Amino acid sequence: MKNQIAAIILAAGDGKRMRSKLPKVLHACAGQPMIVRSVELAIKRKLAPIVVVIRPGADEIRETLKARFPKVDLRFAIQEVPQGTGDAAKAGLGALAKSFKGHVLLLYGDVPLLQAQTLARLEKAGSKASMALLTAEVDDPTGYGRVIREDGRQGKFAESIVEHKDANKAQREIREINAGVYIFSMKLLREGLSGLETNNAQGEFYLTDLVALAASRDGAKIVLVDDAKEISGVNNRVELAEAERYLRKRLILEHQKRGVIFLDPSSVLLDADVKLGKEVVIGPGVQLYGDVEVGAESRIDGPTFVRNAKIGTGVSVHSFSHIEEAVVKKGASVGPYARLRPLAVVGEKAKVGNFVEMKKAELGTGAKASHLSYIGDAEIGAGSNIGAGTITCN
Ligand code: UD1
Ligand code: CA
Repeated sequence: MKNQIAAIILAAGDGKRMRSKLPKVLHACAGQPMIVRSVELAIKRKLAPIVVVIRPGADEIRETLKARFPKVDLRFAIQEVPQGTGDAAKAGLGALAKSFKGHVLLLYGDVPLLQAQTLARLEKAGSKASMALLTAEVDDPTGYGRVIREDGRQGKFAESIVEHKDANKAQREIREINAGVYIFSMKLLREGLSGLETNNAQGEFYLTDLVALAASRDGAKIVLVDDAKEISGVNNRVELAEAERYLRKRLILEHQKRGVIFLDPSSVLLDADVKLGKEVVIGPGVQLYGDVEVGAESRIDGPTFVRNAKIGTGVSVHSFSHIEEAVVKKGASVGPYARLRPLAVVGEKAKVGNFVEMKKAELGTGAKASHLSYIGDAEIGAGSNIGAGTITCN
């Protein structure tokens, strides 16, 4: 039988530098709270159970995740007082059954760019050993734990991690950093965590001390990421905006690979939950937020704003349109200058022209409202033609 791997996600840090009432890990990156991305990653890798370590009173995090993943074996562990990553991991361990024999993959709730294939590499390296860790080469390693490599075994193993604050001058020159993402055998994790001490510069329990312990056994295997960006943690709004920009760029690349056409990719903003069909054309300045679906061969000209909407196949959305919580069916045409508000439904081959606003109303198959109308609370039959200046409401 395949070795079972559980996940522990640390999210009990205070996140003060965000300067926000919202817990740090609930801040969205391309439309998804960062912690949702971490949990989704664990689900993608089939890790189970998934333990999220939170601080006391972090009910918002718990509620958000429960609502989003109702069917997942998601557990919450409370770290009463933040005393370091080792202490947080210990809290997480408490949520796993005593009989759990597999491995544990540990990651943070604030690393929104980490990818499933990178975790797969880590699992492969460590799922039969005491541990493996992710590392990255960076230009500026300030603040990070430095990786001290072993001399033997082709230098593919770490001897220890030295935190920035504990490092001497020579160690601070090292540009290989610890990403904070590891896989541990239960045995190493249990024994290591129970033996942690706080005799370090920060007076904290360092999870990183487990690296030296593993090195004294079968070793701590190093998995170097190809792109250091992937493991960057978010601590403030500048880093969040940077991570988001990077993520959106990556999402566009993925859509392009699947056959979506972006006329000016750098001017498009889209969220992680956006689904685009084959040969969809996205013009300059288009913004697609939240849960948006666009069917094959549709075209959206910008600037246009779309949030939580379902757009069918072969639809044309012309410039300067604003669409929110609406449905546009196959072959329909919208805009320029159209506004579709919540519960607007534009039927197949129907047309909503310039300066037309729709709310809680349905335009039947082939119906037209070509200019200057407000259509609210109405059902317009198939093939109807609404004259300019018409208003329906209540
Ligand atoms: C840690 C690593 C460091 C690594 C860096 C990568 C240790 C001792 N150091 O640094 O080697 O380069 O991550 O980003 O592990 N957290 C808790 N409870 C706590 C403390 C932290 O839940 O008591 C969580 C935070 O929410 C965060 C994560 O753990 O998601 C990392 O904490 P952070 O303080 O950012 O890491 P460092 O100690 O700076
Ligand atoms: Ca951090």
